[in-house]
Amino acid sequence: MSLLGIENLARPEIEAILNRAKDFQNSTAKLDTLRNRLLVNLFFENSTRTRTSFEIAAKRLGADTISITASASSTSKGESLVDTLNTLGAMRPHAIVMRHAASGAPHFLARYLPTPIINAGDGTHEHPTQALLDARTILDNRPSLEGLRVAIIGDIAHSRVARSNVHLLSKFGANVVLCGPAPLLPPQLAKLAPDVSLTYDIREAIQDADVIMMLRVQLERQHETPFPPGDYFKFYGLRPDHLLLAKPDVIVMHPGPINRGREISSEVADSKRSVILNQVENGIAVRMAVLERVMGA
Ligand code: NCD
Repeated sequence: MSLLGIENLARPEIEAILNRAKDFQNSTAKLDTLRNRLLVNLFFENSTRTRTSFEIAAKRLGADTISITASASSTSKGESLVDTLNTLGAMRPHAIVMRHAASGAPHFLARYLPTPIINAGDGTHEHPTQALLDARTILDNRPSLEGLRVAIIGDIAHSRVARSNVHLLSKFGANVVLCGPAPLLPPQLAKLAPDVSLTYDIREAIQDADVIMMLRVQLERQHETPFPPGDYFKFYGLRPDHLLLAKPDVIVMHPGPINRGREISSEVADSKRSVILNQVENGIAVRMAVLERVMGA
């Protein structure tokens, strides 16, 4: 079964993945759950964390993996996406992890290929395993998601991380505040889920927050006039004084890559409140749980 997004994933399935991921935390043991199974990692966009953590997760479960980056493949020779995927499908992998700049690309291919597809980020649409690892990280710091105040701040318009997180958090009764400058925060985002509100004011977003999730300004996804970088940090960069507005035990998250001095100050990124590296660690545990579910016997 494919994993294409959080929007259509039922609560019990999410809970099962998050619980299973807990079993894989704090261990680097190599298991043989997925022995003789092949995972293909197909990345049409840059990635550090997501690609390596899928690879490590697969290896820890005993699977064989190959990773293909689009610039090194035949897509740069004019092969269509369907032909590339059919070629890889003919090599009979047990699953394909795929990242693509076009929203909906993995959904389109999942309809044509019998191989399960795991979406590792499609355009500005969804990034389901990121939302799952974020939920795992929040739950390592809070007993439940219900009633939490989560501020997601930055380039919301172009963020698949924000969309997947909004879907997941609202399924579990968290209150999400989306915050960013007007050009990066279109009003229709309030309709993503019932418990979502919008503000252009970072202080209002952070007030009483349990979780602050910072996002990068994703210039490579901005196909309209790019957002001018100028005063961004002054108005939307997270600084130590902001944290005083939040709950005392607030956690600061960021999916990475972080741009120090752009959306987050070094003091905050490296502070005790930051769980950014815990997110990276949980990325492996959560992806192990996902691969086991998708590729397991
Ligand atoms: C995110 C992505 O690619 O959507 N990164 C990630 O997967 N950790 C966020 C980003 O690119 O800023």
